[in-house]
Amino acid sequence: MKFFIDTANLSDISEAEALGVLDGVTTNPSLMAKEGITGTENILAHYTKICDLVSGDVSAEVIATDLDGMIKEGEALAALHPQIVVKLPMIADGVKACKYFSDKGVKTNVTLVFSAGQALLAAKAGATYVSPFIGRLDDISTDGLTLIEEIRMIYDNYGFQTQILAASVRHTMHVINCAKIGSDVMTGPLSSITGLLKHPLTDSGLAKFLEDYAKGN
Ligand code: G3P
Repeated sequence: MKFFIDTANLSDISEAEALGVLDGVTTNPSLMAKEGITGTENILAHYTKICDLVSGDVSAEVIATDLDGMIKEGEALAALHPQIVVKLPMIADGVKACKYFSDKGVKTNVTLVFSAGQALLAAKAGATYVSPFIGRLDDISTDGLTLIEEIRMIYDNYGFQTQILAASVRHTMHVINCAKIGSDVMTGPLSSITGLLKHPLTDSGLAKFLEDYAKGN
């Protein structure tokens, strides 16, 4: 399973990259705003900085909600850097824009996906990635992981190449369960990646090894 980090924070991105396990980055307008990045020029410059920090795909989201606007913005984003993936919302014009970009060989990520039907549409439109938001489904007492399982089954039934990018991942158990049920990618905060490192038996075992080594030296 690929690990993407879901943030626009350059320090978190660098830390995940330094760990050597990072395959890409996802962002959205809320994550940009959280870092105080506002205004088109600043946002575009920030995407370039992110691309310079990592070697994998970097999802950059359009703001327009009409087809022409999405195509215009998506083309500008794709022209920024070869690592950019154009992120489009799951609405009718987003599906049309996805088809437009996939026909042109531009990578796409269809976001704000909350149902298997939406994921099927994204795959039919040739999306590179589909982003089901599992944490937000959990928030409303609906099992987000069940949606990943349903999409996995549908894509496998027909050999769709669209990669399932589990999004709105909040913690380590989301990461582990996504891996168990065959999500292609997960995107979450830095803590969902570094949290995988932690085990008290690792810490106590290492302390004991070092203590015993010191006795003989
Ligand atoms: O990848 C989607 C993500 O940014 C949404 O996460 O935690 O706001 O539901 P969250």
